[in-house]
Amino acid sequence: MSYLPPAVPDANLLVGLDTSDDAGVYRLTDDLALVQTVDYFTPIVDDPYMFGAIAAANALSDVYAMGGKPITVLNIVGFPISKLDKRILAEILRGGADKVREAGAVLVGGHSIDDTDPKFGMAVTGIVHPQQVWTNAGARAGDRLLLTKPIGVGILTTGIKRGRLSPAEIQQVEQVMAALNKTAAEVARGYDVHACTDITGFGLLGHLLEMARGAGVGIHVQSSSVPRLERARELAAEGVMPGGTKRNFEWASECVTYADSIDQTEQYLLCDAVTSGGLLLAVPAEQAESLQSALLAAGVEAAAIIGSVVQEHPGKIQVNE
Ligand code: CO
Ligand code: CO
Ligand code: CO
Repeated sequence: MSYLPPAVPDANLLVGLDTSDDAGVYRLTDDLALVQTVDYFTPIVDDPYMFGAIAAANALSDVYAMGGKPITVLNIVGFPISKLDKRILAEILRGGADKVREAGAVLVGGHSIDDTDPKFGMAVTGIVHPQQVWTNAGARAGDRLLLTKPIGVGILTTGIKRGRLSPAEIQQVEQVMAALNKTAAEVARGYDVHACTDITGFGLLGHLLEMARGAGVGIHVQSSSVPRLERARELAAEGVMPGGTKRNFEWASECVTYADSIDQTEQYLLCDAVTSGGLLLAVPAEQAESLQSALLAAGVEAAAIIGSVVQEHPGKIQVNE
């Protein structure tokens, strides 16, 4: 981020570049703020419809992670027009559009270019009350942490590329990535959310570290409580994982202490680079179990309490079994 020119101060910019948050938030009036985010990437699954749906769910997620409601969407498309069948592009766009509709947002336009590889994503604009923004920096000592989707997505998508997954397993990981964080965010809205972010490229521990640094608090993670995709451990043990997962592990290592019972495979798994992961929420301890039950009842099947926020070791994480 150091390549960016210095920010121009603006009192209405509620969330900007300095805290590595999920989206920018800009106040329009005393009770209305814009939430703006953009994300796109190259295909991570073979099915073009599912790729479109996953890219959309991933882009929309950053609005949910700020406590916002997505309103309008612009498509961002790169496609090798002369090399690939245009029906593939039509499927990608259909997958994206279906997710936008599910989110209750409106597709208002976009831009496409001829490109060497397919790329797809969205710029999403949402709204939020300026006093109800969920930043990634508001966690307080005593809070408990909840996660709403399983981790291991990077490991399993690498498994797909290496031909290690059955069609049913491929479908399962596609469904996890394509699931909107809409329901989780709507349920959590009824609780005192102190901090929120979504789990993506930096992995669970990377995003937890941002949360710890942002609030000057420490974090305890209970590894056995962290929901994970079936086969993630097995594949990780064989070294089936993306380069980003190992980089996350290296990057996080000086700020994470692992109990002796947490083996190398589990350490990699907790650092796995995720696409379109779940929400990570910090709520007061006395609300955590009620929120978990409400999430489960609403169909957020993986919702789990995975740790807590502590006063000691600010900016650092302790992982226990
Ligand atoms: Co995010
Ligand atoms: Co993003
Ligand atoms: Co947030």
